[in-house]
Amino acid sequence: MGIIYHEKSKQFHLWNDEISYIIAVLPNDEIGHVYFGKRLKNREEYSYPSDLRYPKAMVCGMHDRESFSLELVGQENPSFGGTDLRDGAFAMQYANGSSVTHAVFQSFEIREGKPKLKGLPAAYTNEDAEAETLVIRCYDELTGLTVLLSYTIFRDYPIICRNVLYRNDSGVEMTLQKALSATLDLTDQEYEWMQFTGAWGREREPITRKLQPGITAIGSNRGSSSPNMNPFVILKRPTCDEMQGEALGFSLVYSGNFLAQAECDSYGQTRFMMGISPMNFAWKLTPGEEFQTPEAVLVYTKQGLNHLSRSLHHFYRNQLSRGIWKTKERPILLNNWEATQMNFTEESILKIAAKGKEAGVELFVLDDGWFGARDDDYRGLGDWVANTQKLPEGMGGLSRKINEMGLQFGFWIEPEMVNEDSDLYRAHPDWVLHVPGRDLSLGRHQLVLDYSKPEVVDCIYDMLTAVIDGANIAYIKWDMNRTITECYSIGRDSTEQGKTYHAYILGVYDLYERLTTRYPEILFESCASGGGRFDAGLLYYAPQAWCSDNTDAYSRLKIQYGTSYGYPLSSMGAHVSAVPNQQTGRSIDLQTRADVACFGTFGYELDLNELSDEEFEKVKEQIVFMKKYRGLLQDGDLYRLQSPFSGDKAAWMVVSGDRRQAILGYYTAEKYANEGRSTVRLAGLDPDLLYHVGSRELYGDELMERGIDPTDPAIGGYETEGDYTSRLFIIEA
Ligand code: GLA
Repeated sequence: MGIIYHEKSKQFHLWNDEISYIIAVLPNDEIGHVYFGKRLKNREEYSYPSDLRYPKAMVCGMHDRESFSLELVGQENPSFGGTDLRDGAFAMQYANGSSVTHAVFQSFEIREGKPKLKGLPAAYTNEDAEAETLVIRCYDELTGLTVLLSYTIFRDYPIICRNVLYRNDSGVEMTLQKALSATLDLTDQEYEWMQFTGAWGREREPITRKLQPGITAIGSNRGSSSPNMNPFVILKRPTCDEMQGEALGFSLVYSGNFLAQAECDSYGQTRFMMGISPMNFAWKLTPGEEFQTPEAVLVYTKQGLNHLSRSLHHFYRNQLSRGIWKTKERPILLNNWEATQMNFTEESILKIAAKGKEAGVELFVLDDGWFGARDDDYRGLGDWVANTQKLPEGMGGLSRKINEMGLQFGFWIEPEMVNEDSDLYRAHPDWVLHVPGRDLSLGRHQLVLDYSKPEVVDCIYDMLTAVIDGANIAYIKWDMNRTITECYSIGRDSTEQGKTYHAYILGVYDLYERLTTRYPEILFESCASGGGRFDAGLLYYAPQAWCSDNTDAYSRLKIQYGTSYGYPLSSMGAHVSAVPNQQTGRSIDLQTRADVACFGTFGYELDLNELSDEEFEKVKEQIVFMKKYRGLLQDGDLYRLQSPFSGDKAAWMVVSGDRRQAILGYYTAEKYANEGRSTVRLAGLDPDLLYHVGSRELYGDELMERGIDPTDPAIGGYETEGDYTSRLFIIEA
């Protein structure tokens, strides 16, 4: 790994064993992009692939007049207004109303490791030697704008992290109207765009389409990264599949509004960009002030989508999630939400927890309804004090009783929200986002607290720490159940309102930072009506996220499969719930429910007292299985083998780091009569090792090249009956 600056050609080469990223100072002294891909040999000068075909009719050149146009070269941080007529990565409006920038190369710095981003989540190094960082400083003399472009290359991953910092070094105000985190200019258009799309209850379905001339874009302006569009995009070659081929992945380490887009121009070029959504964004900078963009993670592979995903999985587990839980085996939990909703007493909770203990559960989680007047979702949010009618000895008493059973204890919060019917709202009606004189929109009967105000964050922090300090808390589920509308902050100057969306997220990060610092032992799980804010930003604070409110096993298989393109299994909260399922009405076999949930951070979301004796015995077996294999399931290498989105059969597997142990999950949605043969080719094994699968002994090469027949009784398989069935196969060297 290294970063080399070639002084004569003014080119930077960032490289590790897998990738190269090459940057050049352009003839007009702005910063150009040359290459991102498989590692290249180092050389003094790489020619620009795109400055050769000039001039073209209707293309303007400026610097050195007409021999050079920004429209025809790759750039690192382009802005609109000059000779590049494509969309720009940033727009700064200056005091005279102009928004044309010409920020030219001044200097650079290369350092070991990776600096923190102030107030924002970002990947980090455990030791400095894991990465090197390049910061290029550019300056626009006419306006006094300084731009710092940061790039970190990691030794062990085909990954580059990027961010941009803008500083007003003039004597007058200027306003950023757009500030994306990364641009990647590519020299052809033969890409398919993959996005992860859905809505509540059907999050992150992979959708693929070919790039066409013009702009292909996704984003969220909901105030959160959203269940609708995930801030993760793949550009893949049409020939790339799960096992081979070239692809680029782009992930934004951010939880608020975002934009990701690819623009195919008329000259065979593609410009990819990603960052904070420019919608209603305006960041005024007074002299000396700075704006820091979130981080974008760029990943490259020539070995197919599975490899791209695995690179991100390991990266997020080792270099993004923090704290003691990041790589630790996660406790098997029991959550009462689907069992009781808000209708519970301490006695009924203890009964559910006791049965969990008997089954082998390790952590009991008390969900919504424990605080204030929270008997339904019309009231109570914001009043973070235990309701003593439900919990006579408060959270302290309940946690003690649960601990005495031999279980750890955790609870649910939704700290960004408030109900109109709450003491907090009655005391501070100006603490919610709203436009004076306009009706307030409600979502799930609640309003959004204005987290751009430090006093709001402080107040919630004080309430929460009082509850946590008064009890023995091992886990917190942090929910967020509505989108943001009427995003206006009372008391903020009219020229500062464009900051509100982003300042809100900075407030959320501030509270997360303070709580995770004060309580390093607590396992945080993020949640937003299920998977509504499942993004790399929150993985920095909470290493796992409730994947979806839809707990139907077959829906979940799809949701977890889609999620796995960008995020590790250890980040996916996945629970077995009761049937008929509360979201789909489907009744899927208990074993199939567990066979799906075990590919994630496993738990139960039902009242185990309501199971038959036979079912309860099954649950006990599932928990024994999960305790034995969770290390492998949560930390192993994931291989997607057959997609539930493209047929009635699905399969995936995890393989241990030493490749001696693997688990294959095989799922059938629809059972056909007189069915034909099925073959599953495994992946990731050692071709030379002899593995046991059931009573068969097979070499890795046979398992991967010939495959297995999941109905073969000798490997523990059989013809399943009915729809929505599954099998797990243990493969051991
Ligand atoms: C959201 C969450 C659920 C549950 C409820 C409680 O919908 O996703 O898991 O916590 O809120 O109100």
